[in-house]
Amino acid sequence: MLRHFLRDDDLTPDEQTEVLDLADRFKADPLGSDALAGPRAVAVIFEKNSTRTRLSFEVGIAQLGGHPVVVDGRMMQLGREETIEDTSRVLSRYVDAVVWRTFAQARIDAMSSASSVPVINALTDEFHPCQVLADLQTIRERHGGLAGLTLTYLGDGANNMAHSLMLGGVTAGMHVRIGAPEGFTPLGWVLDAAHKRAAETGGSVETFTSPQAAVDGSDVLVTDAWTSMGQENDGKDRVSPFRPFQLNSDLLAATGKSGTSVLHCLPAHRGMEITDEVLDGPASAVFDEAENRLHAQKALLAWLVERR
Ligand code: CP
Ligand code: NVA
Repeated sequence: MLRHFLRDDDLTPDEQTEVLDLADRFKADPLGSDALAGPRAVAVIFEKNSTRTRLSFEVGIAQLGGHPVVVDGRMMQLGREETIEDTSRVLSRYVDAVVWRTFAQARIDAMSSASSVPVINALTDEFHPCQVLADLQTIRERHGGLAGLTLTYLGDGANNMAHSLMLGGVTAGMHVRIGAPEGFTPLGWVLDAAHKRAAETGGSVETFTSPQAAVDGSDVLVTDAWTSMGQENDGKDRVSPFRPFQLNSDLLAATGKSGTSVLHCLPAHRGMEITDEVLDGPASAVFDEAENRLHAQKALLAWLVERR
């Protein structure tokens, strides 16, 4: 059956575990699968900048024996008003999967609605589910499991990373906390979806406006840019309300725990959402996290293509 990965809760808890287990196998043996042999082609399309997502998909598809077709979406006819649905119908005739980084989630929903091949969300304004698969793989490596751990995200609670950590984290049975200033708390419909999934797994999701209360007792701290791509001119003050949420050594100490890990999807704005001391310190797992994009996405691709 055709499956897409548009948001984190598109995988059931068992399926998420299957993909993460496969990601661990691929990490141990990077050239051990020819899931895309043929070669099967995968379109990897970007309407926003990217370093990690672009490189990890291109390398990962090649390692699986496939052929990556990496395209700047702004240079496609899509950028000259060809419809998303017509684009999708055409792509389905050429490639075995479509990976797309775009703006509104509604755009990738439209792409998947007309597609006869799996569509993967490589970041939208609302979600970044490939990143969170890599985050979960990294947390499992550091903590030996996921269910029951407390993860606190600090920053813009309404951005793609906050939303994906909520949905992906509760799918894994984690207790997810969002520490965000007033006016930057998660969108209601995402909170509803997270509560629904948490009720199935024993996880939970909670929103805090005090950073100290949010981090107390946390096993994992995560932060992200205060200004996401596309928000540069949204007229909001995206600095002063966030300053108390900076991931620095004081907030790390405020967890009251010794083994807390720190994640950041990168790119980091050093001295803004995170300090050098924390990013480069012993709690930081950010470069393992970046590496795991490769393994997690290969696992996702192999898993989705096998199900077609
Ligand atoms: N974390 C992440 O998605 O990085 P890029 O924007 O470089 O792809
Ligand atoms: N929230 C950030 C993530 C970048 C990988 C953005 O959307 O720009």
